[in-house]
Amino acid sequence: MGKYFKQFLSDDRENVMGSELMKNNNQLEANYRSLEEKYEDLEAKYEALEIINRNLEQRIQEEITKNRRKDRILLEQSRLAAMGEMVANIGHQMRQPLNSLSLLIQDVREASEYGEINNQYIDWFTRESMIQINHMTQTINDFRKFYRPNIEKCSFSISDSIEDALAIFAFSLKSHNIRLEFEYRGQQMAFGNPNEFSQVVLNILINALDAFVAKDIKNRQLRIIIKETTEFFVAEFIDNAGGIEPSMLDKVFNPYFTTRPHGTGLGLYLTKMIMENMNGKVIVENKGDGARISLSVPKVTTGVNQAFNTLS
Ligand SMILES: Nc1ncnc2c1ncn2[C@@H]1O[C@H](COP(=O)(O)OP(=O)(O)OP(=O)(O)O)[C@@H](O)[C@H]1O
Ligand SMILES: [Mg+2]
Repeated sequence: MGKYFKQFLSDDRENVMGSELMKNNNQLEANYRSLEEKYEDLEAKYEALEIINRNLEQRIQEEITKNRRKDRILLEQSRLAAMGEMVANIGHQMRQPLNSLSLLIQDVREASEYGEINNQYIDWFTRESMIQINHMTQTINDFRKFYRPNIEKCSFSISDSIEDALAIFAFSLKSHNIRLEFEYRGQQMAFGNPNEFSQVVLNILINALDAFVAKDIKNRQLRIIIKETTEFFVAEFIDNAGGIEPSMLDKVFNPYFTTRPHGTGLGLYLTKMIMENMNGKVIVENKGDGARISLSVPKVTTGVNQAFNTLS
């Protein structure tokens, strides 16, 4: 403020301005304090929110882990449910080589009585016995391969994986008079879990068998076709077992949904879970005089790219 201008101001006026400034200053300070209090309050609230958030995240994580554990248990349950069918098949597949071995062993006594046991006989006996033993070892390996869970995704041949399931199921198909047609050309390399895929195929084969038996179908036919789109290989399983009641079509993937007296209702629920886990999908529909179940698995190029995208 200029020196001359100041002289014009009366003492009074100076006092008024001074007290006015003081008042404003006090007001500002009060505002500042109130703002500071509000800020502290907000900070406390933010911290509380952060704690809630962290708890929520932890709870979500716990729920996800619980769900994963539940899905694993369901998967095990379904494997056990398919076990009955498998035991019947393994028993049958063992019977033939066991019969052959027993005939071979009985032959030794006879050969000895006729003085036929020489080096040539021993070679023949060993060779024939080993063929039968290898046959049994192969059967056991088929089943073990099937039951070994493989967590890691890899490239695998869809048709080989279907053949693995069919090898286990061959006796059931034969004993229930189911005619099977399986058309494919070449190797269709997909990306996913081959053992889990074989398990899905087995579920679908068992479902078809159940439907044939439940509806007492006479001329039982099951067709497997492998098609391809730009991104997927699609394995179609078509039966002529009468299909699914249309009002139930959208329920078949629900856990525990079953129309069978001793069904667990987990087969298709797990099929969907396994297929989606491979970035594939499953479609169930009625076609002709039966059902068509289509399993889509990403082709090896698509699958690897997808895995790469999720990583980066
Ligand atoms: N190929 C099919 N033909 C007719 N109905 C089918 C077929 N596949 C599935 N279904 C119907 O879908 C239902 C659900 O099948 P899902 O495999 O989930 O369970 P489930 O076979 O009843 O029991 P499980 O858990 O022992 O497999 C079956 O109960 C049946 O009604
Ligand atoms: Mg089933």
